[in-house]
Amino acid sequence: MMRKMEHVPVLLQESVEILLGGRRVAAGAAVIVDATFGGGGHTRRLLECGHDKVVVVAIDRDPAAIARSDSLQHDFGERFKLLPGNFSDLEQLLDQAEIGKIDGLLLDIGLSSFQLEEGARGFSFQSDGPLDMRMDPDTGEPAAAIIREADCDTLTRIFRDFGEEPYAGVIARKIVAARVQKPFLTTHSLAQLIADMVPDYKRSRRHPATKVFQALRIVVNDELGALEKVLKAGLKRLSQGGRMVVISYHSLEDRLVKRFFRESAKGCICPPGIPVCGCGRISRVKIINRSGLRPQRVEIERNPRSRSACLRAIERL
Ligand SMILES: C[S@@+](CC[C@H](N)C(=O)[O-])C[C@H]1O[C@@H](n2cnc3c(N)ncnc32)[C@H](O)[C@@H]1O
Repeated sequence: MMRKMEHVPVLLQESVEILLGGRRVAAGAAVIVDATFGGGGHTRRLLECGHDKVVVVAIDRDPAAIARSDSLQHDFGERFKLLPGNFSDLEQLLDQAEIGKIDGLLLDIGLSSFQLEEGARGFSFQSDGPLDMRMDPDTGEPAAAIIREADCDTLTRIFRDFGEEPYAGVIARKIVAARVQKPFLTTHSLAQLIADMVPDYKRSRRHPATKVFQALRIVVNDELGALEKVLKAGLKRLSQGGRMVVISYHSLEDRLVKRFFRESAKGCICPPGIPVCGCGRISRVKIINRSGLRPQRVEIERNPRSRSACLRAIERL
């Protein structure tokens, strides 16, 4: 029997409590943006738990995610709005929908289980499929094009900078040598080449291609660029007392989020003892959880994909 695909929302209760706990939401009508709709798990819980003046605006760049939104439309009517697109264009998307300030923003970044498990999307080496990895299959170039065209230095940089792969150079050289004979068109062909370089790989906890796949996915979808843009735009659009929650799944994303939140929380930087502030800096946010929130053991046991998650949240001052 075919297993039904599903995405189990990560840190669901924690993120929803923070978003609905903002004083703006408690006070009356509120708009919360779920910029990573995915399977709609967080959106649904926000709509179920928020009072009836809470509207959730959902964004996703993946047409397959958008196609999963019918039941929410049916169950919540006007309280649920869908904006297909890239969250890096948050401001334009909100402008087009005539939405000004927002009272909450959720970014549960990364991939949904639907994307990971659908072999034809090419995100995972677990199932064979075209080496694609685009979240929006109509935009940008597939991973196969990078593997086919990038020179050895570029591939090395990609694997090192976005995958933190210690053997970046060796793997890049091997790919460049092998692609002359036969192009890498499928996930398995690339994963196998990398696995063949590690004699005892079946004993290791992680597949040796994990970091290379992560790096390619980040580059194909410009994930860090999009994240940087949405953090800035989100902060600009958050109303006073509005909250932003970001759940990230690897250290590159988490570092970026942590730095951005710290910078935004920084107030006056004048040397101590100066009678009047000359820098004019004021903190724009209050950090809600300084060290980041991680899933509890029970959640990881129930949903192993949650194990690397880290939630950070701020409130707009
Ligand atoms: C981890 S899933 C979200 C799962 C969702 N919270 C749930 O509970 O079902 C991440 C989703 O964000 C989407 N996504 C990632 N980057 C995006 C971007 N730059 N713009 C819009 N959507 C994006 C992906 O397509 C994916 O559907």
